Amino acid sequence: MIDRRAMLGATVALSAAPMALHAAGKGKPFNPAFPKGFLWGAATAAHQVEGNNTSSDVWFLEHGKPSVYAEPSGDAANSFLLWEQDLDLVKSLGLNTYRFSLEWARIEPEQGLFSIAMLDHYLGVIDGCHARGITPVVTFNHFTTPRWFAALGGWHGDDAPALFARYCDRAARHLAGGIAYATTLNEPNLSGKLGELLPGDLLGADKAMVEAAAKALGVALYQPGNPLYTPDGARTQRHLLEGHRQGRAAIKAVRGDLPVGVSLAMLDEQVAPGLPKGAVSLRDAKREHFYGEWLRLAKTDCDFLGIQNYERSVWTDKGKLPNPPGAVTNTMGAEVYPPSLAGVARYAHAQTNLPIMVTEHGVGSEHDEIRANLIPAALTELKKAMDDGVPVIGYCHWSLIDNYEWVFGYRIRFGLCELDRATFKRTPKPSAGVLGRIARANSV
Ligand code: BGC
Repeated sequence: MIDRRAMLGATVALSAAPMALHAAGKGKPFNPAFPKGFLWGAATAAHQVEGNNTSSDVWFLEHGKPSVYAEPSGDAANSFLLWEQDLDLVKSLGLNTYRFSLEWARIEPEQGLFSIAMLDHYLGVIDGCHARGITPVVTFNHFTTPRWFAALGGWHGDDAPALFARYCDRAARHLAGGIAYATTLNEPNLSGKLGELLPGDLLGADKAMVEAAAKALGVALYQPGNPLYTPDGARTQRHLLEGHRQGRAAIKAVRGDLPVGVSLAMLDEQVAPGLPKGAVSLRDAKREHFYGEWLRLAKTDCDFLGIQNYERSVWTDKGKLPNPPGAVTNTMGAEVYPPSLAGVARYAHAQTNLPIMVTEHGVGSEHDEIRANLIPAALTELKKAMDDGVPVIGYCHWSLIDNYEWVFGYRIRFGLCELDRATFKRTPKPSAGVLGRIARANSV
């Protein structure tokens, strides 16, 4: 059996080597200190932790037949009720930032019906952050949309951008005063393209599921907020781009000085060493396919860019290379490669010239030592990128607690803290101590 601890040790050692060279090349030693005011946080998303998100698109699919969801989200981490415990946890870990999302399906459970009680709930969470000295980073929409929105065709529908902007306006009028940083959408760049990245024939199964949902509701198309299958990917993407523009404008109209960005899912797309032009053009084509339009939009329509990184891809002129021999892997079998985060930060900044916030980074693994090793290794590389001039304003680890990992259910664990699903007790893992020590010292 492969010893994961030994393997990650090897990866870290390898990744440290170019760093030493780099520092030597510049003639100055590596400076582990992060700038004053750096945001150290953990991230969650409403549907994945709150529980009982019954008006949402995904809840309906979790309970439909057929369903690609391994299990229903149910109570999740019960964070809708236990949000104070979550904030206390963030604080006790030594972090100063909490990234969480508003649930559109709670705030507008029926089209045009806005719940003041639910807006007040999120106001409580934001105030609770301030009471603890925690900076609230708020995502207006993290994948799940109201069921009625999905039944109108979701982001495929022509009215989608305007409906999203109306929700952003209402939410901003209630909440914007206390938000420190806002993002509109989570990983919209992968919407309708996820089937290309996930294993097996999830796409076919997803199509069967949403067709059954449409039939059950008597509508033409049931498209959830983060679809695998979409009848027209380009149209969905167009509406998401416009949704960001209109949503951001609505938020800025309420509070012009609030920094508003978008969070993009980005792999560190690399060219296999020594390979000729073919590999570069294949890599560049992938970059254009997954990030191009969003990076161009960000340049004009974002105050900062959120990056979310979990992996790298290494391209030859024929395609993607398999994991290198002996690679440390996550639960899904993908390579855990600590420098990928810095690679993405460098690329995202070079393309947009924007301040970068790491809104997600982490690893799905039941072996917490992999997470505990990944955090300092990735942050060391990130700090090097910062020293080279990439303005990174914060790092939010995904995730605060083990939670509902969408179609995979609760099997894949990303948490800094373990969740007891019967008692909802949260227990910090050793990796939480590692991140907390770095955050407290503001130095890696
Ligand atoms: C998403 C999260 C998800 C995480 C781990 C990101 O793609 O924003 O909702 O749980 O990655 O897969």
